Parts: sequence; structure tokens; C-alpha cells
Amino acid sequence: MFFRVCALRLRTSTGCTCISSSGGFQQILSSLHTTTTITEMSSKVAVVTGGNKGIGKAIVQALCKDFQGDVYLTARDEGRGKEAVASLSAEGLKAIFHQLDINDVGSIRKAADFFKQKYGGVDVLVNNAAIAFKVNDTAPFATQADVTLRTNYFATRDMLTHFLPLIKAGGRVVNVSSSSGVRSLHKCSEELQKRFRSEDISEDELTTLMTRFVELAKNGQHKEGGWPETAYGVSKIGVTTLSMIHARRLSKERPDDQILVNACCPGWVRTDMAGPKATKSPAEGAETPVFLALLPAGASAPHGKFVSDKAVQAW
Ligand SMILES: NC(=O)c1ccc[n+]([C@@H]2O[C@H](COP(=O)([O-])OP(=O)(O)OC[C@H]3O[C@@H](n4cnc5c(N)ncnc54)[C@H](OP(=O)(O)O)[C@@H]3O)[C@@H](O)[C@H]2O)c1
Repeated sequence: MFFRVCALRLRTSTGCTCISSSGGFQQILSSLHTTTTITEMSSKVAVVTGGNKGIGKAIVQALCKDFQGDVYLTARDEGRGKEAVASLSAEGLKAIFHQLDINDVGSIRKAADFFKQKYGGVDVLVNNAAIAFKVNDTAPFATQADVTLRTNYFATRDMLTHFLPLIKAGGRVVNVSSSSGVRSLHKCSEELQKRFRSEDISEDELTTLMTRFVELAKNGQHKEGGWPETAYGVSKIGVTTLSMIHARRLSKERPDDQILVNACCPGWVRTDMAGPKATKSPAEGAETPVFLALLPAGASAPHGKFVSDKAVQAW
């Protein structure tokens, strides 16, 4: 509101003084610049991580069609990201590239500063980027646990640490998790299940639990500790639980802002991660994340849920 009022005043003053005043040209330039900044500040913006291929690219593609605002395809590799933007452009869709490696906190900070300065925040954030070892990968379980948790849980958490404060009123945050997190939750000890489902688990407690899993895996003791034999599954327990924690926190700290945070599963999707036998196309896999990203203004649910096939699932 404040910016709009300024813009009107600047335009009026330019109209009145630009010809006669010696400083008029300068004034026009500065007024134009201010107007551009104001326009960008008031336009909406969506940001997708890991947007260069697979489900992430399909999410960007769908948002380009249905989101009223700028859509950023982010990727850790500039070449792969720009190639994806070019291929969408060939379909007549406009996505904008920004480098973002979620494993690099410097890269996260740079991107967060960029969106804060250019748009005054972010309207839609889709945390899609993740990794998975292939089933037949021979890397020791300890390595798989360390590497998988580092990206899927710890880096996603870093993203949220820096981007959640930027989410504008009415914003939507979608964390792409997986139903394998639900299956893995059922395989945890009763004690762990209780903590992951509790309403009072904090981000610190969750992070301590995720760290403990990696430590136990290093010593081959994760099973005794009540954890399942799946690094990917545990990482997605973390992503889903973290989404629920953030949703509760936002409801408490910003009750009037109507921000909705959810975790979801895209289904089994034909991508480099899941392989060609999966049942859904990337576009079909993008449906639930995009549904959550575009929940209409004024909606109050779902919030803090795990969603699959556009429906809230038991956790
Ligand atoms: N496919 C499925 O059946 C399925 C099922 C359940 C859940 N999911 C979830 O859906 C999401 C997308 O999976 P997908 O199947 O599309 O996988 P994918 O084809 O392997 O794509 C993963 C994307 O994440 C990016 N990425 C990985 N590490 C990154 C990092 N540090 N910084 C930024 N980007 C990074 C990859 O970039 P590079 O190209 O640079 O590696 C790629 O763009 C993931 O969260 C996955 O866990 C998938």
C-alpha cells in the first residue's frame, strides 16, 4: 500500500515538472526506476527447487500456466537450469532461472536476498529438490544415511530457515516428501513414532533425532535404536514432520497471515530417481504439489498435513 501511494505521487510530480525543470530528466529516470521496482515488489513470485528435470520441472511447467506471477526455475547447475528454461520457452512458457544449490548455504542466502530485494518476499515456495540412492547401489548404509539426510532433510531445513521468514501473507509452502516416509514411520520403534506424531516436537528435537539416525547408521546400530533400514524413508519422515512443525509455528506466530504449509507425495513418477517403470508421468506427479501451491486465497486447509493424490493422508 505504502509503495503504491509513492508511485502515484512520483508519476504526478514527473508529469508536472519534467519539462521546465533542469533536473526533470533525472527525475523521470528516477521515477521510472522507482515505478519498475514497485511493479516487481507487488508482482507475485513462485520458486521451485530442483526445477531442471523430473517432477520439479513439471511443477514449474504447470505453474507457468496457472500461477499469476513470475515463476522461478531454480537449479544447482546453471547449464542444466538454463537448458530447462529454454525447453519450456520452446513450449511458449516463461520461467526465469536462478541458481540455487540447497546443499550450499551461501547459495541459499544469495537467492533469499535476491527474492527479498526484487519481490519483497516469496508467495509460493516448492521444496522439491532431493536425492535417492538406487536400490542396487553398493555404497555402505552409513554413507547413504549421511549423504541422503544431508540433502533431503538438513538442506531442505536450511532452505526453510532462510525462506520461511520471506513467505508473504497468503503464501503457500509445499515440501515434496514421499509416502515412503509414512511406510518408514510405521517401521520405527513405538517411541520414535510417538515423537514424530506428537504436537509438541520442536525443530531442534527433530534435528537431533535425524542427527542421531546418521550417527547410529555410522556404527551399524540404527536398527537397535529403533530406526528402519532406509535412509531415504527416514529423510522423508524428517521432511513431513518438519512441515508439520512449521505449520504449527506459523499458525501461532503469524495467525493473520493465512500461510499454508504442507508436505506431499507426488506418487510413483517416471523420473531419473524412480525409473521408467513408475506409473505416473512427471506432469501427473506435479498435480498434488501444484494443487497445494495454488490453494485459493482465503483457504485455511490443508495446513500442516501430509497430502497425496490431493487428499490428506494419515500420519
Ligand atoms: N519420482 C518418484 O517416484 C518420487 C516419489 C516420491 C517422492 N519423490 C520426490 O519428488 C521430488 C522430485 O523427485 P524426482 O523424481 O523428480 O527426482 P529427479 O528426477 O532425480 O530430480 C531431482 C531434482 O533435484 C535436484 N537436486 C538434487 N540435489 C540438489 C541440490 N543440492 N540443490 C538443488 N537441486 C538439487 C536435481 O538436480 P540435478 O539435476 O542437478 O541433480 C533434480 O533437479 C523429490 O523430493 C523426491 O524425493 C519422487
